[in-house]
Amino acid sequence: MEINDNDYKELSPTAIVTSYPRIFTDIPYEKNIYNWLESHCNTEVSLYKNLAPEIEARYKLINNLLDKYNIKQILELAAGYCSRGLIYAKKGYMYVELDLENVSNNKKELLHSIALDIPNNLNIISGNALKKEDFEKVENYFHADEEVAVINEGLLRYLTFEEKRIVAKNIYKMLSKHGGVWITSDLTPKKFIKSQNDALPDFNKNVSNITSRNNLNDRFEDINHVKEFFGDIGFEVLEIHKFNEVKDELYSINTLKIIDDKMEKILEDAIVVVLKVETEGKYKI
Ligand SMILES: C[S@@+](CC[C@H](N)C(=O)[O-])C[C@H]1O[C@@H](n2cnc3c(N)ncnc32)[C@H](O)[C@@H]1O
Repeated sequence: MEINDNDYKELSPTAIVTSYPRIFTDIPYEKNIYNWLESHCNTEVSLYKNLAPEIEARYKLINNLLDKYNIKQILELAAGYCSRGLIYAKKGYMYVELDLENVSNNKKELLHSIALDIPNNLNIISGNALKKEDFEKVENYFHADEEVAVINEGLLRYLTFEEKRIVAKNIYKMLSKHGGVWITSDLTPKKFIKSQNDALPDFNKNVSNITSRNNLNDRFEDINHVKEFFGDIGFEVLEIHKFNEVKDELYSINTLKIIDDKMEKILEDAIVVVLKVETEGKYKI
């Protein structure tokens, strides 16, 4: 399959859609980041305060898993305008963010504007998660003999199964070399979309209008489908966590009281999955 960055550009405004709800959380830097986006980018996309519990939950659940695995080299794919990289780099992690060119350029600019002390171990790279050569660029930042944690939130849902397979194979190659894990909130099966539509009427319709890439047919049927699809590439599913595991940690819910039964259902249906290369690991690609 020919991979062209232009085919993914329309996804970039969704990084503003997911940045906005983080202003209703206690995640550091997020208000400053959103203020910067508001004054420097076209933020004329539909924005949803009620997305805050979902976005905060996935952020915090992924962080909890990163802390548990304690792997000090991180590659975040499609990192968008999220502050995680800055925070983990300040803790001493070697952190690489990969996103499309316009988003990474904005990200570098906004970081310089909101943070005076950007650590050298935070690397914002322009690239495409489907391109092997962009994964090779990332290798320059990692020690060859140390594990890597690959993470992503909000990329695979927009990709066809053929495209998901290409990204997964790039990650497989990296983890086969380094060891480590892939932590992602992007494998939530179809039924979640119904919960999201109930809680946030119009959200999916608007995302589809922005991207023309928000297709229900590109969703996994259920967790068995996830296991089969990634098993075929050579991954093993290590852990599955529901977003509601971190409910008590969510500022949007517990302090700002942004919650109702429908948002509760989102937190029950959405998952974060941890994968690793199968230990029996015959190199399948
Ligand atoms: C929904 S946003 C999520 C951003 C961020 N992870 C967050 O949670 O705020 C999707 C992101 O995927 C990026 N993206 C889309 N296609 C990509 C690709 N092929 N390679 C790398 N990043 C891509 C977009 O530029 C955008 O930043």
